[in-house]
Amino acid sequence: MKLNTVYLTDNLELLRNLKTKTIDLIYIDPPFFSGVDYKEFSDLWNSLDEYLDFMRIRVNEMYRSLKEIGSFYCHCDHNAVFELKILCDQVFGRKYFRREIIWNVGSVSGFKSQVKGWVRQHDTILYYTKSNIFTFNKQFTPYKDEYIKKMFRYKDEDGRLYRKRRGGKQYLDHKPGNAVGDVWNDIYSFQTTTRSKEYLSYPTQKPEKLLERIILASSNEGDFVADFFCGSGTTLSVAKRLNRNWIGVDNNPKAIELCKKRLNIS
Ligand SMILES: C[S@@+](CC[C@H](N)C(=O)[O-])C[C@H]1O[C@@H](n2cnc3c(N)ncnc32)[C@H](O)[C@@H]1O
Repeated sequence: MKLNTVYLTDNLELLRNLKTKTIDLIYIDPPFFSGVDYKEFSDLWNSLDEYLDFMRIRVNEMYRSLKEIGSFYCHCDHNAVFELKILCDQVFGRKYFRREIIWNVGSVSGFKSQVKGWVRQHDTILYYTKSNIFTFNKQFTPYKDEYIKKMFRYKDEDGRLYRKRRGGKQYLDHKPGNAVGDVWNDIYSFQTTTRSKEYLSYPTQKPEKLLERIILASSNEGDFVADFFCGSGTTLSVAKRLNRNWIGVDNNPKAIELCKKRLNIS
């Protein structure tokens, strides 16, 4: 297996040939058991059991290929999140389930908003590590202007904003911002931003900002990042830009073609 390459094959074939404990970070965005035929790929199954068997055999191999300090993110939604949680608990061990990340995909308009009932507005990302020693770089979002105005009301002679604390002055430029929690409201999906330059019209394509957050948090420069359902190559493109090593796998020739263009490789 060569690094920084995309593979056109069934991911199980490739996974079975991967060395044990080599990958630092795995992100997957598999079919969600949605019952939709997206044309580029099918998410139609004969039964939930068939889907879970498909996932179990692959998640087992991903677990094997992950380093002891490695992290695993499984992107899914309401269609099978509860079953996938139990499946991943069985593979990783319940105590290594770190967080259920709720990604608010943005407010939905059009026919989806006409549904009788609550409008569906989020995906779920199940986050696991392989052990208690794992890479994690805390992520922050900048403070909002109103917050800064309200909280950092004083200014030094040199223009630095600060607030008064019992211990003295607390400078704004010493604060990293708000620590990112497990509800992500600040990243829009292409469901709401179809005109984005980044959008390659690949069905269920994910935004780079989402992968940027995951890759920055759970890997370091030079680490090895893998996406075994890579689609248009979002994970790979971000991993490359952030100086990680990467591999991607997809069994759809159109996806691999898009990846190659996006990554500028042959
Ligand atoms: C939800 S899409 C991934 C979209 C991707 N995250 C992006 O940003 O473009 C799922 C992908 O998994 C691929 N896929 C499904 N079954 C697969 C298999 N057995 N082996 C490899 N790829 C598979 C599909 O072709 C599809 O491109």
